[in-house]
Order: sequence, then structure tokens, then C-alpha cells
Amino acid sequence: MKKLLVIGALFLLTALFFSCSFERESTDIQYLIGVAQANLSEPWREVMNTEILETAKSYPNVRVVFANAGNSWEKQEADIDKLIRSGIDLLIVSPVESREITPAIGRAHSLIPVIVIDKAIEGYDYSLFIGVDNFLVGKQAGRFIKRQAGSDEIKVIEITGSADSLPVAERMHGFREELVELENIHLIESYSADWLRDKAQDITTENIDLFSGSDVVFAHNDAMAFGVYRAFAEAGINDKIIIGIDGLTGPEGGLALVQAGILEATITCPTGGTEAVNRAMDILSERDGLPKKIFLRSSLMTQSTLKEHYARLPRNTGRTPEDPIVLGFAQLGSESTWREANTKSIISAAEESGITLLFENAELNQGKQIAAIRSFIEAEVDVIAFAPIVSTGWDDVLKEAKAAGIPVICSDRTVEVADETLVTTYLVADFIEEGRRAAVWLVDETRNRDDVRIVEIGGLVGSTPAIDRANGFADFIDRFDTHQIIDSEPGDFIRNLGYDVMTRFLLRHERIDAVYAHNDDMALGAIRAIEEAGLEPGSDILIVSIDGVKDAFQAMKKGKLNCTVECSPLLGPQLMKAVQDYVNGEELPLRIITEEGVFPMEVAKEFFSSRLY
Ligand code: AHR
Repeated sequence: MKKLLVIGALFLLTALFFSCSFERESTDIQYLIGVAQANLSEPWREVMNTEILETAKSYPNVRVVFANAGNSWEKQEADIDKLIRSGIDLLIVSPVESREITPAIGRAHSLIPVIVIDKAIEGYDYSLFIGVDNFLVGKQAGRFIKRQAGSDEIKVIEITGSADSLPVAERMHGFREELVELENIHLIESYSADWLRDKAQDITTENIDLFSGSDVVFAHNDAMAFGVYRAFAEAGINDKIIIGIDGLTGPEGGLALVQAGILEATITCPTGGTEAVNRAMDILSERDGLPKKIFLRSSLMTQSTLKEHYARLPRNTGRTPEDPIVLGFAQLGSESTWREANTKSIISAAEESGITLLFENAELNQGKQIAAIRSFIEAEVDVIAFAPIVSTGWDDVLKEAKAAGIPVICSDRTVEVADETLVTTYLVADFIEEGRRAAVWLVDETRNRDDVRIVEIGGLVGSTPAIDRANGFADFIDRFDTHQIIDSEPGDFIRNLGYDVMTRFLLRHERIDAVYAHNDDMALGAIRAIEEAGLEPGSDILIVSIDGVKDAFQAMKKGKLNCTVECSPLLGPQLMKAVQDYVNGEELPLRIITEEGVFPMEVAKEFFSSRLY
């Protein structure tokens, strides 16, 4: 009944939107939020709209107006333009198609903040993206099947959503990557049922001989998984493993289907509706430290993990404002200007938000960082956060934190752990994208040259920024025969080591055209080495680096550094918000990605005075 009322309300609002230009009926309404929904034929999207409406109710100064594109990107484009003309203050859009709708979103973003949910669009012309990591969702399904199969030979059929949609491509990719080397698991067929239960049921019925010879059906949503189940039931088949995605609550939702034994498992795929409204309010109230992307957590749910999941959900502990939240933060070192700014940001944000901070600096020693985390467990802090020096070697200490019931947040860098529930959320930059942006700038800057010899000064070996920045850069450079990375050595993100590495490069190579340094400090060290060799940094040798610290802007103003790709260390406000949200009983997203830009030397003067670190 409640659901019917909510859907009724959505129709009413949609009708209102189309019949007249929207008006703020009451003076208490300060903000109008427009929602451009892709369609309402998928239950998942109905849930998204319901979440948006329900969450908006907790903000008395907000009204939400919905448009439904009925799966047509042309209609969605018209909806967006119409919503804008109606005077909305912020747009939430769940795209029908990524590429086609990108220009309309860009137009909207030039006028008001835009939150994109679910399908990413091309480029970065929006305020915030919220969605799940669909590649990971596919992998999670693959891993589950792998565990179920053991060494048995099994046959799998896949049922995907709409064939040309990005989430489908990403899920298929992740799923295949997990199973690719296994000779005992055979993916015998893949059908598209456009996310629809009845279509999946029909496909199963039409191909019942093939389906009855399979062992597992993996459907890209629970609705289609349920359709497969219904076709099997009609044919009297009940020995198949069926897996879905979404894990919605409610009578036909994936969680209930798992509970009832209809599905063996589902991978939860939160809609992002609640998160979108909460973040919209942060944007509209100009809250500090807003991220660029938020990846929501997807979890495998089976009958046995369902119980564990409910127990793990954070609860409002009845804490009063008088009880200060205690956060233990294990910083990895003081190796760079970036790191110093990061430390300051965390300390001052904790002070400003009234969070008691226990702060330890591991001085580039993983053992010390592990000991710091253990000391926080012993001190029974509310939340532990740390900037992992390298990506591996954390399983044991994080298991101890989990056993003590203390959530762990990774700040700045990620870790590789066997159990993904050991980390509650990642507050990080997109290091691969940073590397790619450095390469894009360099290729563009040298577009008329046909033999560009590049040297790379890498970060600390084994750290995620060093791994990802190298990969992001190389992936792009490798597409051009005209450019090659002729040498690469780590400089550990330390200025003096950047100088040492560059000195060696200059001795080893007769001609170097460009330096790519994984951070500004090492680039600044390299500049000194180039000058000592009697060459002019910035003209004889081009230099691109990452971070965007003030010293780099100084060097750009002097013409010695050509470009810096931003990686913001100002993570303190976002971290404190995540800590407070957790303690207040909210489920945190899987990954929160910070906003970053690219600054070539031509704009250094203009931006210098506004740089905050
Ligand atoms: O992890 C972020 C990196 O670590 C910064 O880019 C670098 O300067 C720092 O030391």
C-alpha cells in the first residue's frame, strides 16, 4: 500500500511537471531538485525514486520534481532542458545512455550543479557521480560461482540487461575476467533480456533444453533471475543455481528471494537515491570537501551472509553530542609537501568538527603503521583511518580491527585484502586517471614531434599511486609510436631522490625530451638536476608531474615546470564527514573519489594565489 502511495505521488509530481512550469509553492521551499530518471519499468529505478523522495522528506526546505524518460535518450534530453527551464536548483540524472546524454548534462552543468547516478557519462562535466563499481559486481558473481564449483565441471548461462548499456559491459567484463583461466567453468550462452523479468522467463522457456543442461544461471538483475526461476518452476526444474544482482528489499526484492531459497545469491547494487539527496544538500549548502565520485558498496548475499550483513550494518548507538567521537589516524610519513598538507588538513578538520584525533606518523615504515593501528584497537577508538604506505600486508591487522568491531577507513591510498569487508570505505583519488591526464597533456604538447623520449620518476614501489600512475600514463603513451618511455626509476615521492634519479638519467641518456614525475616534489628535484647539467627545465626538457602543490605553481610561473595534474591532499573534511556519518548509523559508500584538475604552466599565475596547499 505504502509503495502504491509513493508511486502515485511520483506520477502526480511527474504530471505536475509536464503540465506547468514548476513553482515553489511555499516560501519555506528553498531548493528545487529535479530528477531525470531513465525509465520506471525497472523495479530498481522505482526504488531509486522512492529513496530520493523519502530522503528529501528529511529536508523541509526541499522539493523534488521527477521526469521519466521512458528509456529514450532524446526524451531525457528534453526532460533535462525542461527541468532547467522550470527553475530547479540542482539536477539528479540517471542516464538512459552514457554517450548520447553527455552534451545535455554538460549544458545543465554550466548552469546548476548536476549529480549523475548509476551510469557514468563521458568526461567530467558534472558535479558528482554516484554509482556502484559494475566491474567489481561482475567479479563478485564470478568469484561466487568459482567457489560453488570447486573442481567440478559446470555449465553457466548468463542473462544480461540491455545489450548496449555500460553497466552490462562492465559486469560482463568483470565476470569473464574472474573465470577466464578456469577450464572447469564453461560459459555456454549469454542472452540479453533487457533487465525484464518476463523477457528472461520467455527466453528460458524458449530455450529450455539448453537451460536444463546448465548448472548455474547468472542474471544481471534479480528481476531477470526471478523470471528464470519461474520458467524453471513451470518446467518442473528445481536443481539449478540462480544468481542475481540488486539485492533490493521488499517482497519480490533480491534479499527476500535469497531468503526464500529462490536465488542462491545476489550481489547488492544500491541505487544511490539516498546518497544523491544527502550529497545534493551538501552541494547546495556549499559544504567543504565535496568528492567527485562516490562508488557504493556491493556485497554478496547468500542465506548465510544475510545474517552477518544485518549485524554489520552500523547502528545509531544513542551517542549524545557530549560524547566526542574518537578517531585514530595512522599517517604514513612526511615524505612530501603533499603529505604535510594532508596531515594539516586532517588535524584541522578533526578540530573543526569536534572529533578527538589520536594521530600517529609511521615515518615510511609499514611495521610502525601496523603498530599504530594496533594501538588504536587497544585504545578502543570509534573509527580507525590510515593512509596505507603500500597496498599489501594489511590482512592480519585489519582482521584484528574487524574482530574488535572497529571500522577502518583507507584515506588517500587503497589496499589489497582477501576479505573486502575489512575496509569500510576508501577515500581516495583516481591515480590511474591522474597518470592518464599527465600523458594526455604531454602527447598534446608534443603533437608535432615524431620521436619523444620520456623518462619516468616513479613513486614508492608497491604503493598504489606509484602502481596506478605508472599504468595510467603508460596505457595512453603506448598508443603512440611517436612517444616512448626510455627509462623509469623510483624516487619514493621524495624531492632529493627525484634529484638523484634525474642525475642518473642525464648521465645514462644522450637525449631526454620529457620527464614524467609521479609527484611535484620529485619533479622539483629533477629540475635542480637538469639545471646543474646546464640544460633548461621547461624548454630543453618538458616536465609534467602530479599533486599541484604551491611550489609546483611557483616553478611553473618561472617556466621550469610545464604542467601539474592535481591530486588534492585536503581530505580532512571528507574524512570527518565519513566518520560522523558512520557513527550516526549511515552505511558508508565503498569508495569516495576526490575532485581534481589539470594545470599547465600557462594558467599558473591565474591560479597561484587561490592554491590552498
Ligand atoms: O598518495 C599520494 C601521494 O603520496 C602524493 O602524490 C605524493 O606526493 C605523496 O607522497
